[in-house]
Formats: sequence, structure tokens, C-alpha cells
Amino acid sequence: MESLHRKAEERAQATQHKKGKKTARERIHALVDEGSFQEIQRFAGGNIDEDYLGSGVITGFAEISGRAVAIIAQDFSVQGGTLGEVEGSKMLHLMDQAIDLRIPIISLLDSGGARIQEGVAALAQYGQIFKKTSEASGLIPQISIIVGPCAGGAVYGPALTDFVIMTKDSSFMFVTGPEVVKAVTGEQVTSADLGGAVLHSATTGVAHYLAEDEEDALDYARSLLSYLPSSAEEDAPTFAYQTNPEDDSRAAQVADLVPVNSKQPYDMVEVIEHLVDHGEFLQIQELFAANVITGFAAFQGRSVGIVANQSLVDAGTLDVNASEKASRFVQFCNAFNIPVVTLVDVPGYRPGTEQERAGIIRRGAKMITAYATATVPLVTIIVRKAYGGAYIVMGSKAMGADFNFAWPGAEIAVMGSEGAVNIVYRKELKQLQADGDDVTAARQRLEEIYSTQAVNPNLSLQIGALDGLISPEQTRPTIISALKLTQAKRRPQKIYRHSTNPP
Ligand code: HXC
Repeated sequence: MESLHRKAEERAQATQHKKGKKTARERIHALVDEGSFQEIQRFAGGNIDEDYLGSGVITGFAEISGRAVAIIAQDFSVQGGTLGEVEGSKMLHLMDQAIDLRIPIISLLDSGGARIQEGVAALAQYGQIFKKTSEASGLIPQISIIVGPCAGGAVYGPALTDFVIMTKDSSFMFVTGPEVVKAVTGEQVTSADLGGAVLHSATTGVAHYLAEDEEDALDYARSLLSYLPSSAEEDAPTFAYQTNPEDDSRAAQVADLVPVNSKQPYDMVEVIEHLVDHGEFLQIQELFAANVITGFAAFQGRSVGIVANQSLVDAGTLDVNASEKASRFVQFCNAFNIPVVTLVDVPGYRPGTEQERAGIIRRGAKMITAYATATVPLVTIIVRKAYGGAYIVMGSKAMGADFNFAWPGAEIAVMGSEGAVNIVYRKELKQLQADGDDVTAARQRLEEIYSTQAVNPNLSLQIGALDGLISPEQTRPTIISALKLTQAKRRPQKIYRHSTNPP
């Protein structure tokens, strides 16, 4: 047996190392706690007497920071890590066990896709994997780490999981590869341009993290896992936390980061890093739809999801991609009992034909559904601007949030003064123009009046849409106390036989 193990690993090293890649087994050992990997079904599908070295996938259980996980690692050294009947049944068996045990599944994917020689039997296995992944969705976290090619319909396996991590220069995902593209459309394109990690991280949003290399990918997966419960039946994790004067003094300086002039941009990531424990914030989809920020952090040791507008990118406006990014993130947090803290500084939805034609109505609706149906604690802080529909959808009390607070001086209104005056005083301004009066001066006066009377938190406070105003220094303590108060929140999710939600 031992010699078979060694032979298999030597073969794997010969294939992988010359490409600068780790073997499947090396990847597993680099990912999990030392000595914790327990492989299962190693010799499934083979005849050991005939020197069977194993199938194209390694499956088993391990621990990461002491927590049990199920591991799938495709072995490219066996027929390109392709998926045949044996590989499919091993993966399905492990997924069933992970579902029974209520533990996360982490997959390391490096494969030529369906094994062509096995024909539709291999395709059928993919069908079953898609079904099983969908069944596990929302019950146990599923993380895919793409460390090589991922071609054909096989891309939908990882796409159905919660998080996709791709390595920068060595991973590719496409439904049809460059050769097929050339044959069918005549288009010549490289693998990187068709489905490289940069493309999927920054443009398509398929990938949630762009890793520099395999080590970085594994590090990220471990950090990500630390914020997630092992299943939807557990509470979000809590980290041991000692009250830390550094965290408190950093949080007290948060006002310095946000310019009073609401037209001046600033980095909302810095604001988040000032507010959370140890300044540690793990972004999800950092490069995609960067006008909205999503990620995990902790407040006094309690894991939370954070959604925020990034003032540096398009002033933090909402658009189709940002809506889908935030909606999927909020849905994930909701499925796994992770409270959502929303930091709002939003001038509105991005206007224009480009967005309307891209389906901002249909795709923006996803974000509404996500917040409206969330039953986890929702705590929202309006940092500077909250205008129009974007104000309401971003975790407002009207949408079911538990607490809404705003910093003094927050601009909260249906729309900005320029737009409002144009609509409300259109007739009056036309008349002034016809009479030869100074329209510019009149418009300016009306805008000032509207600004003073309507662009502030007063009406929101009066109708109970805001629980109060807090100074920036109070933000961290307020979030911590709101999270404490909502810790016991139990609002059963409605059980639908079939969901018709937009996402
Ligand atoms: C059988 C395959 C294979 C496949 C690769 N191999 N892909 N064998 N079925 N799909 C084998 C190769 O023949 C080779 O065997 C070994 O794996 C390594 O492959 P290489 O081509 O030498 O490696 P490399 O140059 O690194 O290129 C890797 C690759 C390329 C980019 C993945 O092999 C490739 O383009 N493969 C086809 C990808 C593809 O179109 N897949 C879609 C399949 S259909 P030897 O014996 O020479 O070492 C599909 C549909 C799923 O997946 C649908 C679900 C609904």
C-alpha cells in the first residue's frame, strides 16, 4: 500500500511541479490542520492487485482550526483530473456525508471536465453533482478553490457553491474553451481573456477572490471559513474577544475619515476597518462592482456580514452588478445566521439608459428581496447620504431592519435639491423665465430652501424610520449594543414550497 501511495504522489508531482502547481495531496495538506486529513474511498473503482494508483479525485475529511470539513481535491495527474463515473460517485458520497454531518465542503478544482471516453455517463455524474450542490446550498457552506482549468458545463458545479476563489495565473473557467470558440465563431481568444481569474474577479463576478497563488487561495479559504458556521443549524461563530482599547480608540477616530463635504469621496473600507475588531475585514468580491463593499468582520468577537457603499467608486451608487453582489451576500448571511451591518452613504441608483437596459428593475429587485426576506439581525448606520430608493433598499427600517441610526448632518431625502426643485417648481421657474426674471438666482434660493427643509434626518426621525442620531464616535458601541440586543432574535423564515425570488 505504502509503495502505491508513493508512486501516485511521484506521478502527481511529475505532472504538477513542472507547471509550478501543487499536487492535490500537497494542496490538501497545505489547507488543513496538520495530520488531520482522513482520506476515504482511496482505491474506489480500481483493482489494487493491478497497481491501481487512485482515481482523478481525492476525497476525505479534515479539520481547519479544529473544525471538521469535507474535502474534495481533483488530481490532474490522473487523466487531467477529469470526472468519470468513479470520480462522480466519490464526490457525491462525500457530499452526502457532509450534508448528514452538517459540515462545510471545500473543493479544490483542477480538471479537464467530463471524461470524454466515458461519454454521457460522465455528464450524468455532473448532473447529479449539480443537484446535490443545490440541495446542500443554504444548509452547509460550500467553497470552491479553482487551481487549474475548469471547462465545459463543469463550471456550474463551483458556480452553484457559495464562494469561488481563483488563482491569478493558473486557473480558468469557461463554458466553451478557446478551441471551440475558434471553431464555432472564428474568434481567437486566449484562455485568460475568455475565462481567467482576473476577468472573473473584476468583470463577471463569478469569482469572489483573486488569489496571487495557491497559498494565498488557501489562506483566504481558511479566513473565510472562520466567519461561517458549519451549517445553517448553528449560530454564527464567535471569537474569543478581550476588550481592546486599541479597537475603541481607532473607532473613535472614524469621523476624521469622512469629509463633511458630501461631494468629496473617501475610502469606506478604511471606515469599516476603523470600526471592526482588530481592524480586520475580509472582503468578498473586492474587485467586482466595487461601488458596493461586502465582507465579513467581527464586533466584540461576533461574526457579521458588512454591506457598505464605496464612496470612491461612482460615489457608491447602486447599479445592476452592485445590487446582485449585495443581494447574494445578504442572502448568504441570512441563510447562515450571520447578522448584517449596513453602512450607508448612497446618492441613489445610477441613472441612464445603460442601467435601465441592463435590467436595473429586475436585477435591482434582487437586493430588495434579499433585505426584505432576511430574518437575521439587521443594523444600519447612515454615515452621510441616503437618497431615494437606494436609501430604502439598503437595510432601512421600512425593509425590516432592527435598528437604523444616522450621523448628525446626514442627508436623507427623496432626491437631491437640484432634481427636486426642477420637478416641484417646474411651472414657477418657467413662468419666471417667461417674465424675464433671474431664474438662476430663484433656482438657487429654492434649492437652498429645499436643502434646509428636506435634506436632513428630521422627517426620518419623526416617522420612526430612524431610531436616533449618533455621533461618529458612538458608531462602534452602538453597533455592538444593537448586536447584543438582537442576539436572541428569532423570526422564523417563511417556508415556501418553491421560491419565486428574483435571485
Ligand atoms: C479525457 C482529458 C480531458 C477530457 C484532458 N484530458 N481533458 N481526458 N477527457 N475532457 C487528458 C489529456 O488527454 C491528457 O492525457 C491529460 O488529461 C492532461 O491534459 P493536457 O491536455 O495534456 O493538459 P494541459 O495542456 O494542461 O491542458 C489541460 C486542458 C486541456 C486545458 C484541460 O486538456 C483541455 O482543453 N481539455 C478539454 C477541456 C474541455 O473541453 N472539457 C469539456 C469536456 S465536456 P494524457 O494521457 O496525455 O496525460 C464537459 C461537460 C460537462 O466537461 C457538462 C456538465 C453538464
